[in-house]
Amino acid sequence: MTEPPYHLPVLASELLGLVGERQRVVDGTLGDGGHARLFLDRGARVLGFDRDPEAIRRAVTRLASDRLDARQASVYSPESLLAVRAFRPDLILLDLGVSSRQLDDESLGFSFRPGVPLDMRMAREGRPAADLLNSADAGKLTRIFRDFADERRARRLAAELVRRRATARFETSDDLVRAIRAALGPRSGPADFARIFQAVRIAVNDELGGLAEALPGFLEALEPGGALAVMSYHSGEDRLVKNALREWGATCVCPPKTLRCACRGRPLGRILTKKPVGPTADEIAANPRARSVRLRVFEKARDEPQG
Ligand SMILES: C[S@@+](CC[C@H](N)C(=O)[O-])C[C@H]1O[C@@H](n2cnc3c(N)ncnc32)[C@H](O)[C@@H]1O
Repeated sequence: MTEPPYHLPVLASELLGLVGERQRVVDGTLGDGGHARLFLDRGARVLGFDRDPEAIRRAVTRLASDRLDARQASVYSPESLLAVRAFRPDLILLDLGVSSRQLDDESLGFSFRPGVPLDMRMAREGRPAADLLNSADAGKLTRIFRDFADERRARRLAAELVRRRATARFETSDDLVRAIRAALGPRSGPADFARIFQAVRIAVNDELGGLAEALPGFLEALEPGGALAVMSYHSGEDRLVKNALREWGATCVCPPKTLRCACRGRPLGRILTKKPVGPTADEIAANPRARSVRLRVFEKARDEPQG
């Protein structure tokens, strides 16, 4: 079967404008390989990761380059971090979340279209979404809906799930959509379903926890002058990245009332995106899924801070 042609990946020209000259690139979220292609075309070597075996298979076939080393793993795992360090990257790119192909592949269960199984596992291992929804207690469900979906009726939605699953297990998208409708009211619609489904996906794949733990290791692994570029599609994810970059870019990170600076006393590098970079109207028109993207880039200091 022939693969479809490459579409222009999200924020392609903005990304290249900020970090395009880099030659040793870790693409932590290979997906369909759109961003990796841009760097391979510029002569770079790429170490790529994806949790999804199908993404790796397709990227290897489509990119067909001996300058690509593609691995099926979470880029947040300790083994991946070792490989990233050994590669000595001058760019680490994360284009977070799921790809259009994953959203469209109903067998993966990310979609709220009717009849889709509640799966949502990027790596096809571990516990599917249905397990989580059928077993998590009301408190945990409330936190998922509140923290990952900014849902102000999180507690009501969690109670609705617990009530419904006492008589019938959650199996498909329809079960979750019905519960959302019942808890959020008849005016709830696709935007609410998308937000709640995204929250469940984030919980199933521990997306925020993994990112928060991995960010310091990525900064360490970069060569002096190297860059970390992160594209987020979720406010919690973007907040996490923004706070990490701010801290790295600060001159002093001592608590506010400290009399004499006792921390590293110098920034670890500089933020290249004073404001996050978002999509243009043209990009949103061409690719509606890019509408929520926020790109932030940090450049590691050229001279390593003294120990
Ligand atoms: C938005 S897509 C990336 C699209 C890609 N940049 C392109 O141009 O085609 C996100 C991809 O990252 C993968 N992914 C998400 N979290 C990951 C992680 N922690 N480690 C490795 N891959 C991950 C998903 O499976 C998905 O294929």
